Amino acid sequence: MAGGRVLSVRLAGGDATRARVDLLALAVTRDEMATALRPFERAIGRRVARELELRRFTAVEGAALVLVGGRRLGAPHLVVVGLGASGPVGADAWRRAADQVVAKAREVRARTAALVLGLPPADPAATLEVLAEAATLASYAFTEYRHDPERVALRTLALYGLGENDAGKATAAGRNPAHAAALRRGVVLAQATNEARTWINTPAAVLTPAALAAEAERVAAASGLTVEVDGPEGIAALGMGALLAVARGSAEAPRFIRLTYRPPGVSRRGADASARETRRRIALVGKGITFDSGGLSLKTADGMEHMKRDMAGGAAVIGAMRAIAALRPPVEVRAYVPASENMIGGSAMKPGDVLRTAAGKTIEVVNTDAEGRLVLADALAVAVRDAPNAIVDIATLTGAVRTALGTRVAAVLGNDVALVRALLDAGAASGERLWQLPLVSAYRSQLDSPVADLRNVAADGHGGTIHAALMLQEFVAGRPWAHLDIAGVAFTERDLPCTPRGAVGFGVRLLTRFVLAAADRTAEDRGAAAGGRTETARAGGDRESPRRLSRSSTYSAARRLPVPAGAATPRPPARRGVAVDAASPARGAKTKRAEGARGGGSRSAPARANVRAARPLDDDADALGLSSGAAPRRRRRASGRPRRARGSPRG
Ligand code: BES
Ligand code: MN
Ligand code: ZN
Repeated sequence: MAGGRVLSVRLAGGDATRARVDLLALAVTRDEMATALRPFERAIGRRVARELELRRFTAVEGAALVLVGGRRLGAPHLVVVGLGASGPVGADAWRRAADQVVAKAREVRARTAALVLGLPPADPAATLEVLAEAATLASYAFTEYRHDPERVALRTLALYGLGENDAGKATAAGRNPAHAAALRRGVVLAQATNEARTWINTPAAVLTPAALAAEAERVAAASGLTVEVDGPEGIAALGMGALLAVARGSAEAPRFIRLTYRPPGVSRRGADASARETRRRIALVGKGITFDSGGLSLKTADGMEHMKRDMAGGAAVIGAMRAIAALRPPVEVRAYVPASENMIGGSAMKPGDVLRTAAGKTIEVVNTDAEGRLVLADALAVAVRDAPNAIVDIATLTGAVRTALGTRVAAVLGNDVALVRALLDAGAASGERLWQLPLVSAYRSQLDSPVADLRNVAADGHGGTIHAALMLQEFVAGRPWAHLDIAGVAFTERDLPCTPRGAVGFGVRLLTRFVLAAADRTAEDRGAAAGGRTETARAGGDRESPRRLSRSSTYSAARRLPVPAGAATPRPPARRGVAVDAASPARGAKTKRAEGARGGGSRSAPARANVRAARPLDDDADALGLSSGAAPRRRRRASGRPRRARGSPRG
């Protein structure tokens, strides 16, 4: 399932007009166009300036003109791409420019290209990252099942004008280590996204739950992650009755995929108790329905057309794990992907069935097409057993989110303001837009069932994205958690910038950047703790801009769980009573095959009581972004009357 040839992006210096490439592109703003063209005049004369004027090229974002190269130009094609009216040039304009270069290269069937930045960018490293990422994303094509002998893939892209003046020699890394790291980060993020796209684009007949698990094992082996794959017996042993029920109508057995990234630096032996104690952990949970027919509550033909995409959340999580393993942030990350088909058949789950989840709570199946929340309920419950400091799930969960936000913006809902804020920031940095919807606690009663703890669809059909999230919230045991509903954005029916039609790969970059940023804050907080501060709700932001300070500086993977000593709610054990394997990821993958020995008693953790009361965040001021941050809320709760845990069994 490996993709095609990958684009190699390099840094170059020297005289770009002499670059021997099939296509030379020049990126300009309208105001700086004349200045940017000047160095080219020796090679191309005034002809180009005249032609640009004649064709009324005003350098608007996304504009590109293909011209024939001059005799003294190394390249047969010259492309001028627009960056907007004037600088500073934003990330989106750079993305669209890279996209245009790759598109024009495809048009003229170029194998090699060079891109010259007309004027030095304000932040060279950031620009480099975004260009490398965008060009790699734009060069993606799903060609597995198409014969297209005409197609020529762009193989190399050299970037000029980023301060490299190494006499025209293109190198993978350039000379500046910050540039090298930025270039690598962009390429890693985009390649991981492209890989996720291929999983999502692959037909369900091929990408079965077992095949997705095999891909996860391949990724783990290649990048030094630990992987565990459970089949039906292992899934049953974990108590995941909802995942088993969803899978029952299918000829394909389900898999439960778990990947673990452990940061480098702590050796297995050397990790003393206190080091392990401070180890912070992020859980990523992704819906892995490899085909959703709706089950007995069958979808229409139209509704089913693209349902191979229903594992896009799982693909995003596995892709992010690959990128995380390559970029090595100092925080532990665990991924959980429940993989199954949702099919019809003599043994399929039926409306009216009652399922028992891994959390012990029961769910009445009212509509078998609301299967995502069932498999996620189990996966979240298992993730909670590993005592994560933050949980993020991502899923193509509801058609309703398309109605609410359309096809370019995903929804985020969560019980922790700072966590939601960190995800919004990560999405903004990646150009993967999120919009927060409220967890309206008044809607919770819609999920009451006369026969079970919950029903799987709300009694009222409106607000479906919120209902689904409220259901998931029942399974996070009050831990900081956020949910991304990507049903609207996971797939595109037409070409978008850097995104050919088909799978978008939404979430890989967002989740990875979220983890990198959380790890940065963790490192900062460790420094702060060493200096005597133990809480991280800081009064001043060390790095944040003043505008964002009050919100985004409060989230951290290193945050103490926000229940002060003496609070009415019990504090969760910091970790399970199992040795934490502190091996370095470089050590190589440890693979447990489906239905293999279950690794002794260490993994079959005893069912633990739900650990902490839900945090009081729903449709109120917090969700509207009006609360003053985490610290005051904590204090309120500490002195408040004991509240009923929304995450604990009812009754
Ligand atoms: N996989 C679908 C959601 C979906 C819809 C993804 C459109 C991508 C595009 C999910 O399992 C589903 O069927 N949800 C139902 C829930 C309903 C039965 C409460 C829906 O949204 O219609
Ligand atoms: Mn469904
Ligand atoms: Zn589904």
